[in-house]
Amino acid sequence: MPKSKQLKFPKDFLWGSSVSSYQVEGGNVECDWSEKFPAKTACNYYINYEHFFDLAKELNQNVHRLSLSWPRIQPMEGRFERKPIEHYRKMLLALKERNIKSMVTIWHWTLPLWMSEKGGWENSKFSDYFQQYTKFVVEELDDLVDFWLTTNEPMIYTSLSYVLGKFPPQKNNLLLVPKVFYNFVKTHKKAYNTIHDINKNAKVGIAHSISYVDNFNPKSILNRTVSKSFNFFKNSLFLELVKNHQDFIGVNYYFHDRVRLDPFSFPPIKVQNENKSVTDLGWEIYPEGLYNILCNLKKYNLPIYITENGLADKKDKERSKFIKRHLQSIHRAIESGADVRGYLHWSLIDNFEWTEGYGPRFGLVEMDYKTMKTKIRPSALYYAEICKENQLTN
Ligand code: BGC
Repeated sequence: MPKSKQLKFPKDFLWGSSVSSYQVEGGNVECDWSEKFPAKTACNYYINYEHFFDLAKELNQNVHRLSLSWPRIQPMEGRFERKPIEHYRKMLLALKERNIKSMVTIWHWTLPLWMSEKGGWENSKFSDYFQQYTKFVVEELDDLVDFWLTTNEPMIYTSLSYVLGKFPPQKNNLLLVPKVFYNFVKTHKKAYNTIHDINKNAKVGIAHSISYVDNFNPKSILNRTVSKSFNFFKNSLFLELVKNHQDFIGVNYYFHDRVRLDPFSFPPIKVQNENKSVTDLGWEIYPEGLYNILCNLKKYNLPIYITENGLADKKDKERSKFIKRHLQSIHRAIESGADVRGYLHWSLIDNFEWTEGYGPRFGLVEMDYKTMKTKIRPSALYYAEICKENQLTN
C-alpha cells in the first residue's frame, strides 16, 4: 500500500468557519431584506451564540468570522444603540474566553431601512454614513477584535443587486454599476483609514470573492482576450484599486468561470464549465482553481486568509472530500510561496441563504429549524481532526 503523506500547514495557521449576522442571528430586525426575504428566527445565534462557540471549540477551531448588523446598531439615522453593541462585546468576549480569534465583518449585505431609503450604495454620501458607523463600532469593539473586514464581496453584491436584480434594491441597471463600484472603493478606503486612526496596528481587509477564470477555447485569441478582460473586471480591478489599503487579503472562493465567447447571443459572454461534480446548488466543484488564484495573489505581498469556501451539501456526501481537495490546493500554493495564513469554512452552521432561503445546507453543523437543535455532521469531525493536527493526511 502506498504510504500516506502528511501535508503540514505553517505554524500558527488559523482554522475556523464563518457566518454573517442576517443569515444566522434571527430576531426579525428590520432592514432592506426583511420585507421580501425575511430570515425570521434563523439559527437564533444572536441569543444562543455560546452554544455555537462551544461547537466551534469542540471542533478545534481557533478563529471565527461573524458580522455586525448595521440595522441593529443604527436603526435610525444619527442614533447608535448601546444594547446591541454591548451584546456584541459579550459575544466577542465569549470567543476570547474560548481562545478563538475573531474576524469581524462590518457590513455583510444588509442595510438599515433609513440608509436604503436614501439610495443605499447609490447615494454619493454613502461612504460618510458608513464611516460614522465604522467609527462607532471600532471605538467600541476594537480591543476584542483580531481582524476587521470592512465589507463582504463588493463585486457579487453589485452584480446581484444592480445587474441581475436579485438582491435588494433589485435593479437591472448597468448604468448604476460604476457609481456603486466607485462607492465601494471609496467606502473601503475611508473605513480602512478610520480603523487605523483608532488603532494603528489593526489588521484590516475585505472578503473579496475571487473566481478562477479560464478559457473555453484557449486556441482562440479573441476568447483569450475576452476571458482576460472578464477576469480583470470581476476579480482584479477592485483589488488593484484598494491595494494600498489592505493589511491582508480575504478570499472567498466558490466559482470556476470557463468563459466562452458567443457573439450571436445576448449576453455574448457565457460561462460554460464541465461540471463533472457539482454542489446541491449546481455550482461546479473545482479545487484546482484555488491554487491558481492564490499563486496569482503573491504579487501583492500580503498575508492571505481564505475567508469563505464551502458548498451546499444537504446529505454531507461531498463535504469532506471538498475540504480535503481545497486544502490540498492551498497547501500546494503555500509551497509555491503564497502566504496563506488561515482557512475559514463557510459555514459553521446551516443558515439563511439569501434569496434561496433555508433550502441550501452549507453547515458543518446541521440545523433543525423546527426544534432549533444542532447536529454535528461527519465532515465537521473530519475537518476538526485537520484543525487539531494542523495537517492533512493526503
Ligand atoms: C456570501 C455568503 C453566502 C455564501 C454562499 C458568499 O458569497 O458571502 O453570505 O451565504 O457565499 O452563497
